[in-house]
Amino acid sequence: MTDEARGFCLWFTGLSGAGKSTIAGIVASQLRERGRRVEVLDGDEVREHLSRGLGFSKEDRDTNIRRIGFVASLLARNGVVAITAAISPYRAVRDEVRGWMDDFVEVFVDTPIDLCEERDVKGLYARARAGDVPAFTGVSDPYEPPLQPEVTVRTEGRDPADSAGDVVAYLDRAGLLG
Ligand code: ADX
Repeated sequence: MTDEARGFCLWFTGLSGAGKSTIAGIVASQLRERGRRVEVLDGDEVREHLSRGLGFSKEDRDTNIRRIGFVASLLARNGVVAITAAISPYRAVRDEVRGWMDDFVEVFVDTPIDLCEERDVKGLYARARAGDVPAFTGVSDPYEPPLQPEVTVRTEGRDPADSAGDVVAYLDRAGLLG
């Protein structure tokens, strides 16, 4: 490759309400400020467009993740920083998608479920506890944390900007920002 910036995939994973989208958004703006082309594939947004109609069974979640991974791989190989922010609860399909790309950086947004529940931004934990949302991740459906993520951010008691800073610092150290 010549002077063209190298694309890569920055894959956020974590519970609903862990802070994935917030941190991803801050990282995206910082990378744009540094002249990188960035796209964010956010779980909620993808489910309105690319994955409309899919539910939350293991099969549908895996399909969702493969679609996101496929688009991310197309972007990454064209010099874009593809940032994804879906729960992506299953380790095996995350690892499968990892294998599709040259540079895959997995970021585990490690927020205790109690805190996600306390925040309950969308009111879904309360509804899940009441039995109104079946197969809700962390409540009545599994979440498999990564075993060897490139970056782990613990968000409890920290500003999202600090967590984003940790991610960008990793990218710098890894030489991905040129
Ligand atoms: S994933 O499991 O396929 O990666 P994704 O990130 O796209 O999930 O969507 C998760 C979002 O969908 C949550 O943040 C929440 O707003 C909503 N949601 C609705 N039902 C569920 C459920 N059963 N489990 C988890 N999230 C759900």
